[in-house]
Amino acid sequence: MERPDRPLAPDQSLVPMRPFDKVDVDRPSSARIYDYFLGGAHNFEVDREAAVALQQAHPAIGLGMRANRSYLRRAVSFLTSAGIDQFLDLGSGIPTVGNVHEIAQRTNPDAHVVYVDLEPIAVTHGNTILAGNDRAVAIHADLRRPAEVLDHPDTKAMLDLERPIALIVAGVLQYVSDADDPAGVIAGYTDRLVPGSYLAMSHPSQDDLTHERKAGTSTVGTVYDRTATPFTYRTRSRFEALFTGLDLVEPGVVHMWSWHADADGEHNELDGRLTGFAGVARLP
Ligand SMILES: C[S@@+](CC[C@H](N)C(=O)[O-])C[C@H]1O[C@@H](n2cnc3c(N)ncnc32)[C@H](O)[C@@H]1O
Repeated sequence: MERPDRPLAPDQSLVPMRPFDKVDVDRPSSARIYDYFLGGAHNFEVDREAAVALQQAHPAIGLGMRANRSYLRRAVSFLTSAGIDQFLDLGSGIPTVGNVHEIAQRTNPDAHVVYVDLEPIAVTHGNTILAGNDRAVAIHADLRRPAEVLDHPDTKAMLDLERPIALIVAGVLQYVSDADDPAGVIAGYTDRLVPGSYLAMSHPSQDDLTHERKAGTSTVGTVYDRTATPFTYRTRSRFEALFTGLDLVEPGVVHMWSWHADADGEHNELDGRLTGFAGVARLP
C-alpha cells in the first residue's frame, strides 16, 4: 500500500450519529475508501480491505485520488480569483486538509459553502469541523436529486441562487450510473443557476491506458460494486459532453493533474499510468 495502516475506529472527535445517519460498517463506502487513500482516519477494516483490492487491481489508484484532490484545490482557487463566493460541493467526501471552505475562505472570508454527501460520516464529521463557521454547512442528501439539494433548508439559508455560484462535482460522477442520467442530474442544477455561475468537474477514465492496465482497472468496478455507489469509468468525450452549452475555461477538458498545474507538480508522473479528466466551465 502507498500509505501506512490507520487505527480501526474512526476519529473519536466524531459527534454521535443521529438514527437516520446510521453508518454501514458491514460494507465498504466510497467516501471512506477515498479517505483512506488520502491518509485520513475515518475508515474501517472493511474499507481498508477494499482499498487493498483496489490497489492490487490498479496500483496508481491512490495517486489518481490525490491528483483529483489537487485539481479540486486549484479549481477552487481559480474560482475564488474569478470572484465566486458561493460554492455547492456535491459528493464532498470526508473532510481532510484543503477543503473547499478552507481554500475559498482563506482568500475571501465571506465565501459560503454547502457540502453534500451520502455518507453519514462525511456529513457528521463535516459539521463537527464546521462548528463555529456560520458560512459553511454539510448536508446529508443524494446528489442525484437536485431539487432536494437545492431546496434543502440549509442550502437555501447558505446560498443565494439569484447570484452566481460554483457547482463542484469533483471525483463523484463515476458513482452516478448511466441509468441515473448524469447529464440530466447536472442539468437539474445548472438549469437553476444564474449566468456567470461555474461548473467544475473531474472524472476518472480508462482512456490512454495500455491494454494491460485497462484489464487491471476493469476489476475496480467489481470492488466498488460492494459499496452503495457502484463505479462507472467514462471516456474523455463522454465526460466532455457533460459541459455542453457551457463556456469551458482554458485549457478546456484535460488530464486532471494538468488542469492549471502549479508548482507542486507532484502528479506529472501519472501520465500513462492512469487517466482522469477535469475542466471548469462558465454558464453563459
Ligand atoms: C471520491 S469522493 C470525492 C470527494 C471530493 N469531491 C474530492 O474531490 O476530493 C466521492 C464522494 O461522493 C460521495 N457520493 C457518491 N455518490 C453520491 C450521491 N449519489 N450523493 C451524494 N454523495 C455521493 C461519496 O460518499 C464520496 O464521499
